[in-house]
Order: sequence, then structure tokens, then C-alpha cells
Amino acid sequence: MKVVASLAFAAAALASSLPAAAQFAKPEDALKYRQSVMFVMSQHFGRLGSMANGKAPYDAKAAVDSAEVVATLSHLPWPAFGPAYKDLEPSKAKPEIFTEQARFKERNEKLQEATATLVAAAKTSSLDNLKPAFGDTAKACKACHDDFRNQ
Ligand code: HEC
Repeated sequence: MKVVASLAFAAAALASSLPAAAQFAKPEDALKYRQSVMFVMSQHFGRLGSMANGKAPYDAKAAVDSAEVVATLSHLPWPAFGPAYKDLEPSKAKPEIFTEQARFKERNEKLQEATATLVAAAKTSSLDNLKPAFGDTAKACKACHDDFRNQ
């Protein structure tokens, strides 16, 4: 038992000491991963947008579900934008991402803050609360795309 436990501990310690570059088996996986996360995030964000803009009936439970997906995903794609994953194709990532990582990180933290507020707003079951929180999150998406994504 003791041996198994210490082996598990050693494996965990090794995993956490691996450089970020080792998180993906192949660089192409990082590209697929970050684009997939963005894509799924945008699908759920779009559903919220339809409700916020009156294009779809307001469904309080569906709004909470989508807001939670967006908030969870807002924590995921960033390691896949590490310096090891520049120059991958086809990608709209601007080279500045890989040279200005601190500024890029600031933008992704802004998104995480906005989506936490979005979840809280959705949970009030009020469309009037959802609308401004949706707008603020959309600004956080746009701020990063304007600076770091090619059109
Ligand atoms: C911190 C920066 C940042 C934030 C914040 C951000 N994005 Fe992105 N997004 C990017 C970059 C960079 C790409 C291009 C990735 C690539 O092609 O390698 C991208 C790509 C995308 C794509 C295209 C994905 C594909 O299929 O290739 C969509 C859709 C998208 N983002 C939606 C969103 C939405 C919706 C939000 C807000 C809820 C958001 N993004 C927030 C940086 C960001």
C-alpha cells in the first residue's frame, strides 16, 4: 500500500513539474484544443446573446447552464497559447500573443472575471440582470480579439 501511495505521489509530482509545453502530445493538438474551446464557448455565448437580444425566448435555467459552460471554458485555452505553440497553421493567433504573454494573460483574466459575473447574473433569473452581464462579457471577448486575433 505504502509503495503504491508513494508511487502515485511521485507520478503526481512529476506531472506537475513538467513544463507547460508537455501538456499536449503534439503542437497540432494545442491548436485544435484552443480553437475547439473557443468554438464551444462561442456556441453557448451565442445562446445567451439570443436571449439577451430578444431573438430567443428567455429560459432562466438554460441561461445558467450556458453561462456556467462559458465560465468553465474561460479557464481552459490559455496554456495552448504558450510560446511553444506559435507558428501553427491554420491559426488566427497574432504573433504578439507569444511575445506579450503578460498582456494576453490580463485579457484572459478579464474574461474570467466577466464570466463569473455572468453566472451570478444568470442565477438571479432576471433577463434585466443578464443583459448587461452579457454585454460586459462580449466586451472582454472583443478586447482580446481586437488586440490578439487576426480578422
Ligand atoms: C485572451 C484573449 C481572448 C479572449 C478573452 C477570447 N478569445 Fe476567442 N480567440 C482568441 C484567439 C487568439 C483566437 C484565435 C485562435 C487560433 O486560431 O489559433 C480566438 C478564436 C476564437 C474563435 C474562432 C475559433 C475557431 O473555430 O477557430 C471564436 C468563435 C472565439 N474566439 C470566440 C470567443 C468568445 C465568444 C469569447 C468570449 C466569451 C472569446 N473568444 C474570448 C483570443 C481570445
